[in-house]
Amino acid sequence: MEQSLVLIKPDGVKHSNIGDIITRFERKGLKIEAIKMLWMDEELAREHYGEHAGKDFFPNLIDYITAGPIVALVIGGQEAIRVIRNMAGATDPIEARPGTIRGDLAADLEHGNVIHASDSPASAQKEIELFFTADEIFSY
Ligand code: PPS
Repeated sequence: MEQSLVLIKPDGVKHSNIGDIITRFERKGLKIEAIKMLWMDEELAREHYGEHAGKDFFPNLIDYITAGPIVALVIGGQEAIRVIRNMAGATDPIEARPGTIRGDLAADLEHGNVIHASDSPASAQKEIELFFTADEIFSY
């Protein structure tokens, strides 16, 4: 079993897509192992997206992810990282296929791409530790 960190970004929360997104993961057979709502500050945002510091989109990314509350989740399941990234769809919602979260719920990058999902086991572990303590995560 594998774990992934998923963030429902400020646009997903604002547009009332929390339930839709979580339902998709549950219907797929993935387990919600931890969940919390929070408002990321700049420090947490810079740490979470540290590998992208210096890229031209970085300032927009920090502004966007700190613009409102988010929902953070640890989601577990077989090949959870790959399964969730497939369900998320392409980074740019214009390219994301219908049926994917970004394909269905987002218009374009300028207005947000709804969710973040860990891209590897190493980043999942680092990201989960950034948002959750061990006693906030439940295997069942
Ligand atoms: S890269 O350079 O290929 O590693 O970047 P990429 O993986 O495509 O994107 C890294 C994260 O930055 C987000 N991103 C953006 N956000 C807002 N505006 C623009 N223009 C933009 N370009 C990239 C992208 O969604 C990735 O964040 P997460 O949260 O992982 O989806």
